[in-house]
Amino acid sequence: VYCLGQCFAAPASGRDDVRPRVETTVRDPIVLERVAGGGAGTLEAYRTAGGFVAFEQALAAPPASLVAEIEASQLRGRGGAGFPAGRKWRAVHEEPSAQKYVVCNADEGDPGAYVDRFLMEDDPYCVLEAMLIAGYAVGASQGYVYVRKEYPSALTALTVAVRSLRDAGLLGGNALGREFTFNVEVVSGEGSYLCGEETALLNALEGRRPEVRARPPYPVRHGLWQRPTLVHNVETLANVPWIVRHGGDAYAGLGQGASRGTKVLSLNSLFRRPGLYEVELGTLLTDVVHDLGGGLRTGSLAGVVVGGPLAAAIPPDRLDVRLTFEDLYGIGAALGHGGVVAFDTHTSIAQLVEHVFAFGAYESCGKCTPCRVGATEVATAFAELPAGRPGVDHDRWDRTVAALRDTSLCGHGAGLAEFAEGTARLYPEEARTWFASR
Ligand SMILES: Cc1cc2nc3c(=O)[nH]c(=O)nc-3n(C[C@H](O)[C@H](O)[C@H](O)COP(=O)(O)O)c2cc1C
Ligand code: SF4
Repeated sequence: VYCLGQCFAAPASGRDDVRPRVETTVRDPIVLERVAGGGAGTLEAYRTAGGFVAFEQALAAPPASLVAEIEASQLRGRGGAGFPAGRKWRAVHEEPSAQKYVVCNADEGDPGAYVDRFLMEDDPYCVLEAMLIAGYAVGASQGYVYVRKEYPSALTALTVAVRSLRDAGLLGGNALGREFTFNVEVVSGEGSYLCGEETALLNALEGRRPEVRARPPYPVRHGLWQRPTLVHNVETLANVPWIVRHGGDAYAGLGQGASRGTKVLSLNSLFRRPGLYEVELGTLLTDVVHDLGGGLRTGSLAGVVVGGPLAAAIPPDRLDVRLTFEDLYGIGAALGHGGVVAFDTHTSIAQLVEHVFAFGAYESCGKCTPCRVGATEVATAFAELPAGRPGVDHDRWDRTVAALRDTSLCGHGAGLAEFAEGTARLYPEEARTWFASR
């Protein structure tokens, strides 16, 4: 069974259209505004809820001022890397090219993440409005949404939305009577986790083998078909209409430190109250686990994996960490895309390491040797670890993790190293039991 995007309801079945609990703890929700209210599945419903006011406002302003607004908001990418959105907008805006692209990364492959799925299914016009605004701001005329094929309902929702925007004259040329032409194509993904990595995704869109590209040059200069390309995650884009309507400063007024605005978290089914929660950045992880999630349904908490498998698991005694890019990075973890997967004491940390490395090996694009060979080696060493007794060669572990960290071409291999180093540091007692003496 492939991933169903239903981590809130495991064990899940593709036949059941179960919906997650959706809540926001922010006074003025930004991303889940409409999803929490039941969604805006038609253009009429979206317009009634204030949709396309931002696009009208945007078209009345010079493109450079929109770039400045995104810079002022301090919005950072929600796809995992947390790169400042304004810097990407400015770079693409300033590239002197007659053809530029906006690409929406809707490949959402992190285990435990189902944020983008419901944004696309319940608020597809918001994602498309954001792409229109971004296209106008950076000077692009063509957009692509690359949707993971495991999300058929999201594919349908977006395809229907694109069609109705074309019928309404908002896509396809001279939107709202202005000289601005923008088209969007919805593309079904190739079914690989690695296609979510932005350069592999660009290769996939070009119909090539979805391997990672060496950088630089970055996609903002040489992206899709070597043209300047703005690649953004679905949730990142879902912030844009709000920022245009309320101003970048209002957005930057939320959050903490260099992490501004809100983040949507998706809690897995082990929580008593799994679901989607929009929280202000800077919220304590313990409040998410205990107050929003209600603690575990069964068993006792052994840890939480936040933001996908490419960063450390966080033990119960470190839940006092704040959900910002910097605070999580400071303890060896990451905010990533906001999946929050709790696991209980039935899972040993050694099993977790084996599972993450087996996943890493399976999904490796194979371009770098430490990732292609090393990930399998670590998974095998942990699979063969005798229960409660040491068996992993410590020197080999150190060398493999260092090679992954220092030589990986993309965040997949580097993230496996971060997971390994961070988890061993945060679970020192368990880690001591893995290694045979040197
Ligand atoms: C292995 C790997 C998988 C990724 N998968 C996704 C994904 O499924 N969705 C996503 O938006 N970003 C994913 N990313 C991050 C993208 O490479 C890129 O940073 C992101 O799409 C940029 O958009 P943002 O700035 O809005 O976050 C992945 C990165 C790596 C290294
Ligand atoms: S680190 Fe792994 S996934 Fe990334 S480019 Fe290298 S082999 Fe491919």
